[in-house]
Order: sequence, then C-alpha cells, then structure tokens
Amino acid sequence: MLNSLLDDSKKQLSSALKHKKHPFRYCTLATTSLDGTPHLRTVVLRAFDETKFLITLFTDTRSDKIKELANDPRAEFLFYDTHQFLQLRIKVELYETSNAIEQYTQLPEPSKKDYSCVFAPGEPILAPELIRHDYEKGHFTKLVFKAYELEYLKLKRPNHLRAIFLSSEDWKGSFIAP
Ligand SMILES: Cc1cc2nc3c(=O)[nH]c(=O)nc-3n(C[C@H](O)[C@H](O)[C@H](O)COP(=O)(O)O)c2cc1C
Repeated sequence: MLNSLLDDSKKQLSSALKHKKHPFRYCTLATTSLDGTPHLRTVVLRAFDETKFLITLFTDTRSDKIKELANDPRAEFLFYDTHQFLQLRIKVELYETSNAIEQYTQLPEPSKKDYSCVFAPGEPILAPELIRHDYEKGHFTKLVFKAYELEYLKLKRPNHLRAIFLSSEDWKGSFIAP
C-alpha cells in the first residue's frame, strides 16, 4: 500500500509533463528569503526524473530564488490536484544550476520572453508597456532539485490518507496521522 502511494505520486508527476492540463504542471516553490522568511511562488514543472527523484524548472538568473538558493539550497515544492484532493509536499535540495544555452536557443520566441526582459524580475517599472526584450541576452537558467522527503496527503472518506517517505530510509515510507 505505502509503495503504491509513492509510485502513484511519481506517476502523477511524470504525467504532468505529458498532459498540459494536469494540475501538477503548475506548482509552488518555497525558498527561504535572505532575511529568513518564507518565499513562495508558482512555477512550471519542466522535467521529472523518477529514478533519481530530480525536479527541474526554468527561471530567470536574476530572480530572487537564485540568490536565495545560493544562500540556502533547501527548498520545498507543493503540488495540489483539486480533482483528487491530493497534496504532495516535496522537500528538495538544489542539485544543479545551468545556463543551458542550447535549450534556451531552441525555445520559441514567446517562451524566450520569460527569460530575456531588459528589466530584472522585481525591478520597478513606470508602466507595463515599457517592457522590452533582448533575446540575445537571455537570462535563462535551469534549476534541478533532488528530493529527500515526500509527504503524501489525500483527503477522502471515511479516512484521510497521509504518509511520509524519506530518502534516508530508502523511501520505505510510513503512515502518519492526517
Ligand atoms: C502560472 C505561473 C507560472 C509561472 N511559472 C514560472 C516558472 O516556471 N519559472 C519562474 O521562474 N517563474 C514562474 N512564474 C513567476 C513566479 O511565480 C515568480 O513571480 C517569479 O519567478 C519571480 O520569483 P522570485 O523573484 O521570487 O524568485 C510563474 C507565475 C505564474 C503565475
């Protein structure tokens, strides 16, 4: 039973890469701000390696998450499926950061926009129309995280289902009270 929960979680994450409407395609990434407070944001799941338990996202090199992860490589992903009432909380550590220039150059122009604004994310601007892009000067960064803990929670009747899996315990898993 426990094994099937972990397998199902991985299956759902892989499925989110194939199906654009899968609720796990968009998730929340939490990092720790430089002042120690939590910092959450929505990101798109870009790759998932079931065997090594690696989660990949794309971002702008100038975004806060880059500085925050340089200061503290620990982070957490939150995935929520509204149809299944299923929540996954995955604790991770930054595993690899790369500019992945080849991947950036292959992106279609509308996608390149997300990483090539002449203003850095969070920089004050006078009006949204002033936004310009410099595709040559992309700030594309690929972040790969390695999971070390997964918490599975499914709300259902008569009993909710909650379990925790740790890499330090070879992902064996145990039930916990919901
Ligand atoms: C639907 C949606 C998807 C997003 N996907 C990403 C993403 O894949 N990567 C990313 O860096 N930011 C993404 N963002 C923007 C982030 O939520 C965030 O505003 C931005 O990355 C700046 O974050 P930071 O400076 O706190 O690191 C997305 C926002 C929304 C609303």
